[in-house]
Amino acid sequence: MAFSVRRLLISESVDASCKKILEENGIEVVEKKSMTKNELLAEIKDYDGLIIRSGTKVTADVINAAKNLKIIGRAGTGVDNVDVDASTRNGIIVMNTPNGNTISAAEMTCAMIMCLARQIPQGTASMRAGNWERKKFMGMELYGKTLGIVGLGRIGKEVATRMQSFGMKTMGYDPIIPAEVAITFGVEFVALDHLWPQCDFITVHTPLMPSTKGLLNDETFAKCKKGVKVINCARGGIIDEEALLRAMESGQCGGAGLDVFVEEPPKNLFLVNHPNVVSCPHLGASTHEAQGRCGKDVATQIVDMVMGRSLVGVINAQALSHAMNPESKPWIQLGEALGLVAKACAGQINGQMKVQVTTLGMFLRNAGNCVATAVMVGLLKGDSEKHVNLINASLFAKEAGLAIADKHSDTTPGSLINLCALEISTSSASHKLLGSVQAGIPVLLELDEAAFGQAILLKGNLLIYKAVQDPQILPSIVGVLASAGIQIESYNVSAVFEGEQWCVMKITALLEDLNPLGPFVKISTQLTI
Ligand code: NAD
Ligand code: MLT
Repeated sequence: MAFSVRRLLISESVDASCKKILEENGIEVVEKKSMTKNELLAEIKDYDGLIIRSGTKVTADVINAAKNLKIIGRAGTGVDNVDVDASTRNGIIVMNTPNGNTISAAEMTCAMIMCLARQIPQGTASMRAGNWERKKFMGMELYGKTLGIVGLGRIGKEVATRMQSFGMKTMGYDPIIPAEVAITFGVEFVALDHLWPQCDFITVHTPLMPSTKGLLNDETFAKCKKGVKVINCARGGIIDEEALLRAMESGQCGGAGLDVFVEEPPKNLFLVNHPNVVSCPHLGASTHEAQGRCGKDVATQIVDMVMGRSLVGVINAQALSHAMNPESKPWIQLGEALGLVAKACAGQINGQMKVQVTTLGMFLRNAGNCVATAVMVGLLKGDSEKHVNLINASLFAKEAGLAIADKHSDTTPGSLINLCALEISTSSASHKLLGSVQAGIPVLLELDEAAFGQAILLKGNLLIYKAVQDPQILPSIVGVLASAGIQIESYNVSAVFEGEQWCVMKITALLEDLNPLGPFVKISTQLTI
């Protein structure tokens, strides 16, 4: 799958290094900031690439209007401002730069914890108002206090190690980080129900998703220590905003540090104006260092992808990372070609079809399910207006109701070569194909368990038919082709099975109509690979 990104739009303030790197690599860059939705809808159709931060809302309308778009690069972590499903459906890569702002966001969180402990912003505001209120701003030490960290990913971990240097005890929870890993960075792993009542401070570092929306709510605040202080430098809504206000008014919550809001900028300032809230306008990643890294990273990742060097930061196209490996590329091509041949033989793809992809041989051990994804591309290609590729094939296969299973075995029966076997079955027909890669080129070795004398190169216009073994058939087929002005470039026959054999011809053009072959063959199909 080749990507060419010739023209790219940067729709937000991204570090200058981003534009520079892209332009140095031959990509034309246009910067247009603060566009309205309608302006973006009109503008986006002219670009192959889009680079954003968190301000541009890349909704399904924008994606559908972006007829040429191939990649959306997020200079930052969260992609909640991008409709990733719509991007996947349209075969568009979504990429982020997950590491670039980790340290800045972690330091911001630590700064929030310190401000909550010592009320520094409130003290500053009071002095600006001409006051000298030493009693009012009595604080607390962090030393010996317990910090609860919900989400022990990149930022959660960095927050933990920094706050341990203040003598804080750190405990945390994460559904995918095991307890034995958490303890390596000094975090005692506890279930959330055990975390709530033990902590003096609780900070959240998860993405916003259905399972994390409102993690801190009326019920969980009630389980916390009275006066707990909470911090959200992740995404607005992980701490329920109304529940937070209620908890602060009752004294159950002693203060909040908020860098993010459900609505940004928030129209309702009930939290921002609360005396126990320290707030910032989503500044976690707003440092020169983080912006420099994110801008550089997103540009470098796009250039590396276009050059076919590597695929870093992609969040919706795992199969593509294998396609980048020059040694895997022909196997991806093989998968797609086998899918195309199988579809041509089956005549039609429908939800009744069962598909089994089996890779054999050591080399394909780590190919993951990318060969199976490529088979799906072949099976679904040309089915509708949809442009099927490695990014959206699994989604479309699922929607088409195709039951696709893949498995791998290290051992290839009787030889050391690597193979890909594809079996499809519908209520009316079933076919088995066996293919491999020879000298970097995908080839077909067997059809319905009948082996071909010579491997068939899966490229060009192919006429495939099954007929009884009869020397009179070939001249008849040649006659049909000749009368259509079509020449034969190669001809292969399979072993004879129950008196019949498969034949594959490489021809200079496809026949307009296969009906004239009807009297001579049992099955015939043709395709271009
Ligand atoms: P990450 O993917 O490295 O870590 C997130 C962790 O949350 C993962 O380990 C995941 O398993 C965990 N998680 C998911 N569901 C959970 C649940 N129900 N309970 C507990 N843990 C759960 O992400 P990160 O880079 O550490 O970023 C964390 C958050 O910070 C993201 O929401 C990101 O968008 C945000 N962020 C904000 C800023 C900012 O400017 N304020 C900057 C960078 C990142
Ligand atoms: C992120 O997810 O990377 C942050 O929220 C920072 C940003 O949006 O700039």
